[in-house]
Amino acid sequence: MNRKEFLKLAGLTGAGAAAWSAFESEAEAGSLQSIIGDLPKEIDDFQATHKQRFNMSGYRAPKINTVRVGIIGVGNRGTHHAGTIIRVSDVEIKAVADVSEDRLGRVKKKLANSGHTPDYYAGSEHEWKKLCERKDLDLILITTPTYLHADMAVYAMEQGKHVITEVPAAVSIKECWDMVKTSEKTKKHCMMMENYSYMPFHITTLNMAKQGFFGEIVHGDGAYNTSKMGNNFRKSMYWNMWWLKMYGARKGNIYPTHGLGPIAQMMNVNRGDRFDFLVSVESKDFMMQAKAKELAKKDPFFEQFAEMDFRGNMSSMLIKTVEGRTLNIQHDATSPSPHNLIHGVYGTKGSVLYDPAPHRICTGNGRWADKKTANKLMEQYKPGLLKQFEKFRKGLGKTISSGHGGSDLINVWHIIDCLRNGLPLDQDVYDAAAFSSVVQLSEWSVLNNSNSIKVPDFTAGAWKTNKANMDINMEFGGGTTKVLG
Ligand SMILES: NC(=O)c1ccc[n+]([C@@H]2O[C@H](COP(=O)([O-])OP(=O)(O)OC[C@H]3O[C@@H](n4cnc5c(N)ncnc54)[C@H](O)[C@@H]3O)[C@@H](O)[C@H]2O)c1
Repeated sequence: MNRKEFLKLAGLTGAGAAAWSAFESEAEAGSLQSIIGDLPKEIDDFQATHKQRFNMSGYRAPKINTVRVGIIGVGNRGTHHAGTIIRVSDVEIKAVADVSEDRLGRVKKKLANSGHTPDYYAGSEHEWKKLCERKDLDLILITTPTYLHADMAVYAMEQGKHVITEVPAAVSIKECWDMVKTSEKTKKHCMMMENYSYMPFHITTLNMAKQGFFGEIVHGDGAYNTSKMGNNFRKSMYWNMWWLKMYGARKGNIYPTHGLGPIAQMMNVNRGDRFDFLVSVESKDFMMQAKAKELAKKDPFFEQFAEMDFRGNMSSMLIKTVEGRTLNIQHDATSPSPHNLIHGVYGTKGSVLYDPAPHRICTGNGRWADKKTANKLMEQYKPGLLKQFEKFRKGLGKTISSGHGGSDLINVWHIIDCLRNGLPLDQDVYDAAAFSSVVQLSEWSVLNNSNSIKVPDFTAGAWKTNKANMDINMEFGGGTTKVLG
């Protein structure tokens, strides 16, 4: 990893600077440290000066008959996405880029006999630009490490392509604004694929919110609590150990969107409400440095990680919205506890809780409903997208499974279907920016005694009138695209 790349990864923060000192000079670290204090001012400046050029919320781009896709980054997730995309009709994967020949080899195998015969780009860390510059692509899917997403998204939009990107879409406030400004300038979609919103329970509870089941939503608890200790320390798992370096370089919630996104959508954030401010506090790191030190005793490769000031094991963040709702978002990828998304949503008339299982629903009478009642409610509030997939299943005569409880295929299918029918995408660039902005804002809070910090209004006031556009009941139309198997 070169210096420039590391600084990007570190988000130019104090934590990043501290970790960077392990790599290079103390002088470097000192100059970066001074930037921490300026963050709020920078945000206020942006708030004051940004004039929305074009409102991308609800934007309908010209219809595309066959969606021609280019993929950047085909590691674990990108290869999985390639396997998902080929299950959707009226799509053509025309180009794939990755720095690693080995990773390209894996995706080549996956696409063999699929009818997709993309051109492959490898050899340098800049080859992806050539992919973006092609004239025969409509959509670029970005599945590289998180700190590369925003630059790639901006460049792709500037080359006239719609963008869908993995989570989080950006790791700094500047990157969030760059995406917003470029999307408004180019009128290209920039959607962050928050796939957990499409998980059966989550999408059904979103429909419940839309139908008023909760009354006023008061509060939501969300999390991505799942141990990645094995993965993060495995040499062959992630490109260039990038996740481990992220933990060594950043503070705050570096992976917030699976807990945050589905609840924010239920609260109509960016369309009727918006994030106002947040505070973040995190535990000490009790595990990662100890593990790095232990591994370094046997394997010199791990010496580079042994002195890192790792992100604390449990990150907690509280967000308040301007309409007075609260969100409590956790991230713990170290402790060996069971997978826990929480997804507890509490309203004036009803509430739900996903984790720990069994999933629960309360109709406002002070107790969790029995299983039969809960199942009945899940059926009653089943959204159009899930019904559409039941039709596909009947048509194919077999179960349709895909990653993350089926959400990955629904997510990809709906993106393609919306693009083909000229419909708004479910999540817009303002969602991508707001949901990702908390990465750097939570870091700032942690580094400043958990003080509160304002969240920028990426919609520049349009949140007051923007209409809901996560079209889970397919009220805008569509449904002309097939699932092939
Ligand atoms: N939504 C989800 O459920 C979910 C699940 C897993 C991962 N993710 C996200 O997917 C993204 C990728 O994660 P992953 O687990 O696949 O990581 P990975 O390390 O397996 O894959 C990253 C890929 O990017 C490639 N790459 C790095 N620099 C590049 C460059 N300059 N040009 C082209 N390719 C480059 C690497 O060679 C590698 O193949 C991350 O943003 C992660 O947060 C999301």
